Amino acid sequence: MSKIVKNVEYGLEKIFEGAQDFLPLLGTDYVEFYVGNAKQAAHFYKTAFGFQSLAYAGLETGVPDRASYVLKQDKIRLVLTTALKSDSAIGEHVKKHGDGVKVIALWVDDATKSWEETTSRGAKSFMEPTVEKDAHGEVVRAGIYTYGETVHMFVERKNYTGTFLPGYQAWESDYNPTPVGLKFIDHMVGNVGWGEMDTWVKWYEEVMGFVNFLSFDDKTIHTEYSALMSKVMSNGNGRIKFPINEPAKGNKRSQIEEYIDFYEGPGAQHIAVATDNIIETVAQLKARGVEFLSAPPQAYYDEIPERLGEHMEMMKEPIPDIQKLGILVDADEEGYLLQIFTKPIEDRPTLFFEIIQRMGARGFGAGNFKALFESIEREQEKRGTL
Ligand code: FE2
Repeated sequence: MSKIVKNVEYGLEKIFEGAQDFLPLLGTDYVEFYVGNAKQAAHFYKTAFGFQSLAYAGLETGVPDRASYVLKQDKIRLVLTTALKSDSAIGEHVKKHGDGVKVIALWVDDATKSWEETTSRGAKSFMEPTVEKDAHGEVVRAGIYTYGETVHMFVERKNYTGTFLPGYQAWESDYNPTPVGLKFIDHMVGNVGWGEMDTWVKWYEEVMGFVNFLSFDDKTIHTEYSALMSKVMSNGNGRIKFPINEPAKGNKRSQIEEYIDFYEGPGAQHIAVATDNIIETVAQLKARGVEFLSAPPQAYYDEIPERLGEHMEMMKEPIPDIQKLGILVDADEEGYLLQIFTKPIEDRPTLFFEIIQRMGARGFGAGNFKALFESIEREQEKRGTL
C-alpha cells in the first residue's frame, strides 16, 4: 500500500473544512486548449477519445480572429481554439508553448465576486468581469492568471440556457464516433519551475482558499535517475483538485524538467479523466489509436496482492486483464484505484492524459509513481532527453 504523507492528522472532510469559502466552486466548466489547427485537433479528440461535437465559433458566427470547436463527453467540455491570423495572442501562445492548455475554467455562482475576491488577494487579472449575451440569456465570465501563462476563468451561467456560451452556435456533425466512457475531470496537474512549488501552494491557499491535503516529496517520488516533488491542492468541497509538481535533483533530467524545457515555462502537465470501467475505456482508446506508456514489468503485477493488502478482496478487475492493457493499480486507506497514462498527445513532450477509475481511494497512485516514472524514462531515453 502506498504511503501518503498527510499534512494533518484528521480525515479529508475535516481538511476540506479548513478551506475558505470566499470562492465556492461548483465544478470544472471547460478546459480550453490553444492549438495550431483546431479543426484537426477536434477530429482527433472525436475519433480517438470519443468526444462529441457540441458548439462552434469562428468566421461563420462573426468571430473574426479565431476558430473554436467545443467537444463534450458526459461532464467534460473541451474547447479547441486556433488563431486565424499571425497577429494574435493565441498564435503567440502556440508559437512559444506548442499546443497546450490555456484556460482551466471553473463553474461558479458569481463570477464577478470570484474575480474580486481573488484579485484583491493578489491574483493577476486576465479578463475583468464581462457579460456576454445572446437570445438564450447571459453568461458572466472573468479570468485570472495562475502558473505560467495558464488562466483560470470563472464562468457564471445561471441565467443562460444556450448550448455553450454566447457567440457559439450548436455544432451538428454527421461524424459522431461513440463515446469511450469518460465521465468528468478528476484532477488537473500543473508543472512549475525549480523552487516554485511552495510559491504556488501558497498562491492557491491565499488567493483561491484551497488547502494542501497531500504532499509527496522527492524521497517518495524518485527512480534511479530522477525525482520530483508534488503537492495536491483542493478546494473546500473537494471537487477541484490541482496537484502541483516541481522538479527535484536527480542523476538525470526529470520529466518535469523536460516538460518545462519544451513547454518553455510552467503549464498544465496532465488532465486526469474518470471512467467507471477502465478496462472497457482503455481497450476502446487503444483500438482508436491512443498511445499509452508501456506496461511495467511482470514483477509489478506479481506484487499487486501485497500492494493492495486488505483491498485485494474487493478488487473486481482480473489482474491478467489489467496487465494486458498496462493499467496500474494502487490503494490507500480508503480503497483502491486503477490508472493509466497516455504518451504526450502532441509532438513536444508536454501535455498528456490520465485515465482513472477510483474504487474508494482518494489518493493519486503514489504506489505507482516509481513504475510510472520508469516508464516515462524509457520514453525520455528514446527522445534523448533523460
Ligand atoms: Fe494524475
